[in-house]
Amino acid sequence: MSLAALDQQVLWHPFTQMAAWSPLVISSGQGSFLIDDQGRRYLDGVSSLWCNVHGHNHPRLNRALREQAERIAHSTFLGLTHEPAIRLAAALLEVAPPGLSRVFYSDSGSAAVEIALKQSFQYWQLRGRPSKQKFLRLTEAYHGDTLGAVGVGGIELFHRIFGPLLVQSIPIPTPAGTDGTGSLLHLKRELESRAYEIAAFILEPMIQGAAGMLVHPPGFLAEVSKLCKLHGVHLIVDEVATGFGRTGALFACQHEAVSPDFLCLAKGISGGYLPLAATLATEEIYSAFLGEHREMKHFFHGHTYTANPLACAVGLESLRLLQETTLPNAIARSAGLGAALRRIEALQGVRATRRCGLMAGIELEPEEGRFLGAEVCERARTHGLILRPLGDVVVWMPPLSLSAGELDLLETGTRAAIKDIFG
Ligand SMILES: Cc1ncc(COP(=O)(O)O)c(C=O)c1O
Repeated sequence: MSLAALDQQVLWHPFTQMAAWSPLVISSGQGSFLIDDQGRRYLDGVSSLWCNVHGHNHPRLNRALREQAERIAHSTFLGLTHEPAIRLAAALLEVAPPGLSRVFYSDSGSAAVEIALKQSFQYWQLRGRPSKQKFLRLTEAYHGDTLGAVGVGGIELFHRIFGPLLVQSIPIPTPAGTDGTGSLLHLKRELESRAYEIAAFILEPMIQGAAGMLVHPPGFLAEVSKLCKLHGVHLIVDEVATGFGRTGALFACQHEAVSPDFLCLAKGISGGYLPLAATLATEEIYSAFLGEHREMKHFFHGHTYTANPLACAVGLESLRLLQETTLPNAIARSAGLGAALRRIEALQGVRATRRCGLMAGIELEPEEGRFLGAEVCERARTHGLILRPLGDVVVWMPPLSLSAGELDLLETGTRAAIKDIFG
């Protein structure tokens, strides 16, 4: 039996209608390319779900992984510690926005978000403000698929069905496509009337990825940060997608010199090699959890693979590589990607394009009863390109190590796929 046939017999894939899916089996990767079991090469236009940073099969990351595997692959982080986690945490804090001083590890973006929500909630309990239990979030927010993260999500299609299971959150209109004034006014009113019951405001900074690459107006994040501070509400910045150079700065909140109370990191943290995530918090938050053992102020949350040493060792090497070469490359590639998008925007069937650094979306003209984003992405494969849609938006999230020649392939493959569908 072929691997594809066996897959169809035994597997259930995420975000996939299994009744109408034919597997593409990936056997290896090299730089920006994925290679299937027939030896066909595809440019990885979505960085393997937005996490690959330096390309696949990178010799330095491979070496870091091998060297750590020869020492130890895993030991628990509950009551024990190890060098890769310690060194990575120190390195992260060195480059993170000022004020963040503690790293709590986990293993997915959703978990990093859950942890920030729970730490914020518990902080207010510990500080004698038990009424602060609610969370603010943006409309069309996406923060992951576990129940806490879904509770602060706002994508109807993904989240509506789980409504009865969720912690309720308060939506603030997304500022995308506006100058942000209305959204800020709404936030101000919510804060003025009920900051006493709000623990935190969670948002994706600068650009809402899963919502379809919705770009925020300049200055919005800085204003949100000011308002949250003024009203004593935590700011949780979810940089699971935007972190590690994706928007042209190491972290997107640095574009607006914002220092949040919590910073959620995952995806690119390990260069796209292994499941790893981190929630960074300030000393003020951390210190609320300190006390005598009998006071039971501990943060009762942890995962078996928290701070996995292999992932941390690769993460440390990935961060070095990012600072040495990959971030400068991403910044250099950004203008070219913008120009390519403008050319794509002129094509028939394209309604708009949006971008922040190397994170972009191509919005197609919708057509009743058709899934045009999926159709374009399907066609893209025949032009040597792996893409994924978000509804009618085709995503561009290439590895940050993308070369100028590879950017040409991304553009020509996408152009050909769009032409195949729209003529
Ligand atoms: C902004 C944001 N937060 C959280 C998540 C969830 O991350 P994970 O898929 O690692 O759980 C994602 C995933 O796409 C994301 O884009």
